[in-house]
Amino acid sequence: SNVKLLLVEGYQEMSKVAAQLFAQEVKRKPDLVLGLATGGTPVGMYEELIRMHRTEGLSFSQATSFNLDEYVGLDAQHPQSYRTYMQEHLFAQIDMAAERTNIPRGDAQDLEQECARYEQAIAEAGGIDIQVLGIGTNGHIGFNEPGSSASSKTRVVQLTPSTIEANARFFESVEEVPTQAVSMGIATILGAKKIVLLASGEAKAQAVRDMLEGEMTPDVPASLLQMHDDVTVIVDAPAASLL
Ligand code: GLP
Repeated sequence: SNVKLLLVEGYQEMSKVAAQLFAQEVKRKPDLVLGLATGGTPVGMYEELIRMHRTEGLSFSQATSFNLDEYVGLDAQHPQSYRTYMQEHLFAQIDMAAERTNIPRGDAQDLEQECARYEQAIAEAGGIDIQVLGIGTNGHIGFNEPGSSASSKTRVVQLTPSTIEANARFFESVEEVPTQAVSMGIATILGAKKIVLLASGEAKAQAVRDMLEGEMTPDVPASLLQMHDDVTVIVDAPAASLL
């Protein structure tokens, strides 16, 4: 495949290299559409972008953003909602216009309508210019769990027990972790012009190998990225240990 692999030493370097790729696109096209992700992995990249905003004048004032996903049942103010995460880790510390930051509404009355609205909003914005992704230990991207088809769009998805377990660290107990999410689909993600996937730590090593060296299969949703022509995967040494 033509996936570009960047091997780096550790989390810090991964975060800096990723932030550079994003900053380059923001400078090239100030009114671009960013595709954003949550989880532990992109925190360092967001910190680096905040630093560049503060010290180098990197501006997001004309940018639009769309996040990959949101938990079903959590309102925007919930401490573990992805809206709260984005406010804390990025939006409150840079100059993005609040009305141009988009995250699915996990508390929408009509979730199917919310999914269709979200998909259409991405299209109306002209599509995503650059999308950042993490990867789940089971190879999921966004909340596209194993079994997600390459043609999937934004929809309500069921979280697997392993994902619920992995995300329980952010909640008081595993019982509090929502069991469903609204997530961009694989086709939505593949619609991005550029994709940057980040993986750090030994726990991701098997998923990284399956994504890059395994066959393209919905059993490993990240492997479906092999069909995209502009994917950069930034992997630190522990996550690359099985390559
Ligand atoms: C979460 C998110 C994904 C994220 C993945 C890995 O469930 N929905 O977008 O990439 O799991 O998370 P982490 O970066 O914390 O390892």
